[in-house]
Amino acid sequence: MQRSQAQVPAAETHQTHQQLQLPAMMQSIGFIMVLVLAGVTLGIPLNYKCSLLGLWQNDLGSEMNISAGNNAGKFFGTYLTKVSATHKPIAVSPLRGSQQMGNVKQPMFGFTVTWSFTDSTTVFVGQCFVDDKGKETLQTMWLLRKKVDSIEDNWQATLVGTNNFTRLQS
Ligand code: BTN
Repeated sequence: MQRSQAQVPAAETHQTHQQLQLPAMMQSIGFIMVLVLAGVTLGIPLNYKCSLLGLWQNDLGSEMNISAGNNAGKFFGTYLTKVSATHKPIAVSPLRGSQQMGNVKQPMFGFTVTWSFTDSTTVFVGQCFVDDKGKETLQTMWLLRKKVDSIEDNWQATLVGTNNFTRLQS
């Protein structure tokens, strides 16, 4: 004998909360993906944020790896310079710095490299820029302090320059 709709037990006619939620969630994810794809195809700029973390190379070929950052804006990493003012063998050196805090799209920062292979220190200051395709660039200026033997030589102890960094991997 056939059951009428009214005779079907409640458990069979009512989907569970979870069964109802899953298709709705998949629909929303699909909708977001369509929006993102449409944005990319139409060239609508997505709101990228510049991050200092990662592997960078500058215009001299030097490489820097910013490997850790904390929620106080401090960051740490290593620097391998391609060039040197000395004839000593170049080695990887530590860097430490701090960046502008808060919900900032293109933060400013500063860091110090204490060269492990010679008596000098370089400080960099700069800003992290991101374009509307998500490409990040670090525009910096630096001061390199060399050790001199006497105060009379102090005038020649500091070099100044600029470096631009782009990401090696993303
Ligand atoms: C030294 O020679 O005293 C230590 C290495 C200095 C390398 C300098 S720091 C500024 C510039 N940018 C680089 O990537 N390397 C040079």
